Amino acid sequence: MDKDVKSYGFDGSAPQGIGRKVTSVYVYEAPVRLWHWVTVLCIIVLSVSGYLIGAPLPSSPHYHFVLGYIRFAHFAAGYILAVGLIGRLYWALVGNHHAREIILVPVWDKAWWSEFFFEIRWYLFLERYPKKYIGHNPVGQIAMASFLWAALFMCASGFALYGEGLGAGSWADTAFGWMLPLFGGSLDLHAWHRLGMWAIIVFVMIHVYAAIREDIMSKQSMVSTMISGFRMFKD
Ligand code: HEM
Ligand code: HEM
Repeated sequence: MDKDVKSYGFDGSAPQGIGRKVTSVYVYEAPVRLWHWVTVLCIIVLSVSGYLIGAPLPSSPHYHFVLGYIRFAHFAAGYILAVGLIGRLYWALVGNHHAREIILVPVWDKAWWSEFFFEIRWYLFLERYPKKYIGHNPVGQIAMASFLWAALFMCASGFALYGEGLGAGSWADTAFGWMLPLFGGSLDLHAWHRLGMWAIIVFVMIHVYAAIREDIMSKQSMVSTMISGFRMFKD
């Protein structure tokens, strides 16, 4: 592995001592990987069903409850997303330090920002040689931290809207009902919730492009890392 292999905040516990050639490092523990792929499925179900809640299919005399099933799928996936987020936040407390990368972004650190701008230049094809990271690179770190906040917003706004259906005094209304007046009422909160979906869809398009691009260009494994947990360094 190159001398310039960097993992921000690396705690020295993984087997990558100086002078040893290490070609693969365990990065993402099983709960992080499980959360990633469960979240991917939830986002797909939530986006398709959410879109169809906002722009419903024409009703048919034969299938009266279509929107009911669509809303059921949305709420079921919404619950799974929310439980997954709670599990992921818990794992940030007890997991390895890579599990905290998307929660604690060291924006106060000048060196981190210089690597951030390096990565921006790398993504813009302005740098010839990639840097290597055991965990996320700074650009990925900020993007994925933003996703986390977007997902929290979608859960809070989603459950506020859900509380309208459950009724005044229900758990969802009690816990998240305050979102409705804060965002100017039900209609406006629907619009913010819908806008959140488009923000997440933009994130996913860039994220998947970047993951596959890095897999091909950066001499380190990406997609398989989120499956097996191991990062392979190719030279
Ligand atoms: C990232 C995840 C999510 C996405 C992409 C998403 C997307 C959407 C979209 C596009 C709509 C239609 C808004 C409109 O046009 O009026 C919607 C409605 C709604 N969503 Fe979500 N949503 C997500 C998470 C959640 C969660 C976690 C819940 C919690 C249960 C939830 C509950 C609702 C409710 C209650 C409605 C209104 C349904 C109705 O008015 O019939 N959503 N969602
Ligand atoms: C709805 C779609 C997706 C969402 C919301 C999403 C979200 C995320 C998040 C939040 C992380 C950070 C994980 C953590 O540190 O806990 C991440 C990492 C990652 N995702 Fe996704 N992801 C999506 C789809 C995909 C797909 C389809 C692929 C594969 C092509 C992929 C590949 C990766 C990889 C390789 C990483 C680790 C990158 C690195 O080590 O820096 N993701 N994703």
